[in-house]
Amino acid sequence: MKQKSYKIGIFSGDGIGPEIMKEALKVLKVVEQRCAVTFELIEAPFGAAAYFDYGHPFPEQSRAVCDVVDAVLKGPVGLVHSEAIKIPVDMQPERGAVLPLRAHYNTYANFRPVVLPQSLAHLSPLKAEVIGEGIDIIMVRELLGGLYFGKKVVGKDNNGVRYVEETLRYDEIQIRQVLISAFDLAMGRKRVLHNIHKSNILQSSVLWNEVLDEVAQDYPEVKVVHMLVDAAATHLCLKPTQFDVMVMENMFGDILSDQGGGLIGSLGLMPSACIGDGKAYYEPSHGSAPDIAGQNIANPYSMIGSVAMMLEHSLDMSAEAKNIWAAMQGVFSDGYTTPDLAAQKSGDKVIGTDAFGDRVVAKLKAM
Ligand code: IPM
Ligand code: MG
Repeated sequence: MKQKSYKIGIFSGDGIGPEIMKEALKVLKVVEQRCAVTFELIEAPFGAAAYFDYGHPFPEQSRAVCDVVDAVLKGPVGLVHSEAIKIPVDMQPERGAVLPLRAHYNTYANFRPVVLPQSLAHLSPLKAEVIGEGIDIIMVRELLGGLYFGKKVVGKDNNGVRYVEETLRYDEIQIRQVLISAFDLAMGRKRVLHNIHKSNILQSSVLWNEVLDEVAQDYPEVKVVHMLVDAAATHLCLKPTQFDVMVMENMFGDILSDQGGGLIGSLGLMPSACIGDGKAYYEPSHGSAPDIAGQNIANPYSMIGSVAMMLEHSLDMSAEAKNIWAAMQGVFSDGYTTPDLAAQKSGDKVIGTDAFGDRVVAKLKAM
């Protein structure tokens, strides 16, 4: 039988990006050996380092890589503020690279799992009784609209007072496509969809909810629960187990998904999948943590988890994806922890970035 072969773009990014990517690639190597599949890895510059080396944080050669690969694994980007301001605003990697990558692949749906099994409740700052039988949420964040992509005007009024206008724009096509992704996901899970909005204030949420009612007609089995975004922030802390699939616009999703990281103990536990109708890319939900870069203390879970999400969504290898989740969780269950989580339970042995990756590899090999 001819071995399957995939081309994967590797955008390691800035800060802790290269070191967590290194662990993710160790895991990918093992998958290659276990699953009779070949990964051709194509590394390309992306982020602040790319700006300094090539004059653009998402240079032409990296766009070209996007076009030939089957999927992209992307590390976090960004610099500390004092360094970031040396780069023109439009060329700073968040605006100049991440948003253009999202637009390039038309990844309108961002899946952000917030998962903590009961056995790992100790990693969370929440009480064990709040974690109950475990947290298992997928936040679906619209990724190409709203304030992130709306028109921006920066100016001075007649009195010389500086102002800025940023536009929150959505059209019904954008809303519908992400809602369909969320309903489809809910159909394969508990068939409960929490719709997170702010329709008591924002017209964009009013339209969002109108479109939702239309889309919901095609999914009579899915129970929709409407919740205002501010209330959702509270409910996430008080009773996270009530949620299964949540869907929301871009900015709400940016904020609530970071809260999700807090619920389970660390942003280091937050991988994500950026999905459209064509190719997808995979990235941790967090930033590049330049303050801890190069010290072998970053948690590679989010990057390795992004590999798992890539296997599941882009490469039709969901069984192996499950093995990776189990291997990572198994390392914690064995009494090891990463430095970001160390405060949650004394007694766990703190291991570094590379040791975590090695242990995941060993577990996978033993499966
Ligand atoms: C995220 C990040 C990005 C965002 C940045 C890096 C552009 O915070 O993926 O959540 O705001 O979307
Ligand atoms: Mg964010």
